[in-house]
Amino acid sequence: MGCIFCPKRGLTHIELVIEPVMLTFVLAPANKFGFAISVKSSRSFSTSHRIVELDVHDVAFGGAGVGRLEGKVVFVPLTIDGERVQAKLIERRSGYDRAQLTKVLLPSTRRVGPVCPHFGRCGGCDYQHIAYDHQLELKRRQVIQLLERIGRITDVQVSPTSPCARPYAFRNRITVHAMEGRIGFFEKNSRNVVDVEHCPIAVPAVNEELKELREKGLRDGQHRTLRGLDVPRTFTQTNEFIASALVDYVARQVTGDILVDAYCGSGFFGHALAHRFRIVIGLDWNEPAIAAAKLTANPNEEYICDDVSAAIASVLEEYEPQTIILDPPADGLKGSVTKALLTKPSNRLIYVSCNPATLARDLSRLASRYRIIEIQPFDMFPQTAEIEVVAVLEARP
Ligand SMILES: C[S@@+](CC[C@H](N)C(=O)[O-])C[C@H]1O[C@@H](n2cnc3c(N)ncnc32)[C@H](O)[C@@H]1O
Repeated sequence: MGCIFCPKRGLTHIELVIEPVMLTFVLAPANKFGFAISVKSSRSFSTSHRIVELDVHDVAFGGAGVGRLEGKVVFVPLTIDGERVQAKLIERRSGYDRAQLTKVLLPSTRRVGPVCPHFGRCGGCDYQHIAYDHQLELKRRQVIQLLERIGRITDVQVSPTSPCARPYAFRNRITVHAMEGRIGFFEKNSRNVVDVEHCPIAVPAVNEELKELREKGLRDGQHRTLRGLDVPRTFTQTNEFIASALVDYVARQVTGDILVDAYCGSGFFGHALAHRFRIVIGLDWNEPAIAAAKLTANPNEEYICDDVSAAIASVLEEYEPQTIILDPPADGLKGSVTKALLTKPSNRLIYVSCNPATLARDLSRLASRYRIIEIQPFDMFPQTAEIEVVAVLEARP
């Protein structure tokens, strides 16, 4: 979860077919959270910057409203399904166009005023203009669409998105950048820095740190990660207001007496579930995270510092766990990991994903040996386009 702060190497491309266009989702290290989800295709054409009017019928994963013009898909950020809008065509591609909202002609009843004065320019938030209950519904719908289009998975129930009790003031860490005297977040699709004095999705302690940093100053080109007082430096939950709902949900799904917690970070799931198991094995390649996990481990917990892709097959062979938790970074499971899971199936797989597109791909790769029991989205990052999803799978007999 919250994989927005996970180390990533290179770009991840996920092909998504939306009839009749082929889109490629690119996860690039671009926005303030560590990566951006943008939609790209290979061919781009010049545009007349024509002003057009269109009806928005959906909001796509990544946050842009979706309309059609002369049969072609047009993505218009900051719009909502059910709206009629005026927009300027800014990019033409072989399969779709991109446009910039110029006027909302017929607003959705779900449109609300954004809380942040930087909303629309700052790269952090995508949905402050959408009523919270509709954000939740959109995220659920996007998970269903990605499962269908990428994973060809149509026969599963996706539960309503579990809401965050605090849709604002929930982030316990943010990364800010300095440029020409400004300190704040990257603009959308740019490395230009928006000067931000207060971030409404961050907790008060983080905003206090931001205020102090702005008083002290930061050299151009530098960045700082600001954390709430009690937040350790290794990977931990970014939103504590939904973390307990997530762990409670996972706790209801586990089975057996041996657990492998793969991509365990500092042991968030392993520690919370240790009392349910005889043996817990945590795997992560981040040394400080593993050291932190060991510090507070119970005697029945063992934490191993290794690459999951390299170690998983032998760990499954040696321990034969009945439950495996997988909480990989946004690019999902490497081929060697899915291969090991298929070769030696465990009774229960609990896949915690911060990217429903790679989740859909991985679920389809696992389908021959595992049946999906439940899919539960969690709103870990309200106001943003990001979606956290837990998929619960059981081994086919
Ligand atoms: C989304 S975080 C999950 C952390 C933890 N489960 C939690 O809830 O706090 C992903 C974790 O995967 C680890 N990671 C990423 N790629 C890895 C790999 N190939 N092998 C081992 N660990 C990896 C990162 O160090 C990070 O701690």
